[in-house]
Amino acid sequence: MRITGKAKLAGVMGWPVEHSRSPQLHGHWLSCYRIDGAYLPLPVNPADLQAALRALPKLGFAGVNLTIPHKEAAVEIVDTIDADAKRIGAVNTVVVGADGQLAGSNTDAFGFLEHLRQTVSAWNAADGPAVILGAGGAARGAAVALLDVGVPEVRFVNRTVARAEHLVGDLGGRTKAFAVPDLNDVIHDAALLANTTSLGMTGQPPLEMSLDTLPTQAIVYDIVYTPLQTPLLAAARARGNPTVDGLGMLLHQARPGFEAWFGVAPEVTAALRAAVLED
Ligand code: ATR
Repeated sequence: MRITGKAKLAGVMGWPVEHSRSPQLHGHWLSCYRIDGAYLPLPVNPADLQAALRALPKLGFAGVNLTIPHKEAAVEIVDTIDADAKRIGAVNTVVVGADGQLAGSNTDAFGFLEHLRQTVSAWNAADGPAVILGAGGAARGAAVALLDVGVPEVRFVNRTVARAEHLVGDLGGRTKAFAVPDLNDVIHDAALLANTTSLGMTGQPPLEMSLDTLPTQAIVYDIVYTPLQTPLLAAARARGNPTVDGLGMLLHQARPGFEAWFGVAPEVTAALRAAVLED
C-alpha cells in the first residue's frame, strides 16, 4: 500500500515497544482495506509520555494505543476518559479530536467480552459465577466487562490476597477475594474460569491448578496467547470444557481505535490471526 501526503497516522506508545503485536495487527487491516495510512511503533520513555501525547495533535496524528508502562499514567494526562477507562484505571486508546483534545478510552473489557461471545455463542452472563485468576490490570478489565453484562458474582483468586481485596474494595457489590488454597472450592460452581496472570506464558512458570472440581460445562478463558494453547487450555480441553484463547482479546480490543482513526470498522478474521502470529 502506498502512503501519500494525506495518510492518516496512528501508532502504539510503549517502553519498550518492540514486543508489541499492534503494528502487525493494524498494518494487516490497513492493507486489507487499502487505507492511505500508517500505524507505527513509538518508543516513548515514561518521563516523556505527557510531551509525546501532547505532541500528537501537532504532528497530525489521529491517535495512539498505549501499552506497558503507560496505560495508568495516561489517565492523568488525557483531556477526557470514558467510563471503562475510569473504572479500570487505565487508558489503552487515545483519539485526537478535531479541537486537538485527547480522548482516552479503555477497550480491554470490550475485547475480552467480544472474543468470549464470538467463541462461545451459548455463553450467558446469568449462567453463574466467574472466577478470575489474578488481581492486576488485566483482571480488573475482565471483571468490569463481566460485571457490566450482569455476571452474578466475580471471584478473584490471587497469590497476594490483599491485592484481590483491594479490587473488591474498588469494584464492590458482586465481587469477592480468595486465596490460592481456596481454589478447589471457589471453582466448584463456576460458569467461567479466566486466567489473567502471566503464568503459563512462554518463559514464565506454569499455572499449576487442578480443574477436578470445575463443572465440565464451565468456560475456561486464558488471556495468555504465547503459546496459543496454554497448559491450562490444554487441560480444560482434555476434560471437555469449552475454551477461549487470549489472541482474540488482543484483536478485538484493537477494533474501536482502528475505526476511530481510520474510519473503517475492521473485522477479526483467520487471516488477521495468522498475520499477528507471524514473526
Ligand atoms: P497486568 O496488568 O498485566 O494484569 P500485573 O498488574 O503485574 O499485570 O498483574 C499480574 C498478575 O499476575 C497478578 O495477579 C500477580 O499476582 P500478585 O498480585 O500476587 O503479584 C500474578 N502473578 C504474576 N506472577 C505470578 C506468579 N509467579 N505466581 C502467582 N501469580 C503471579
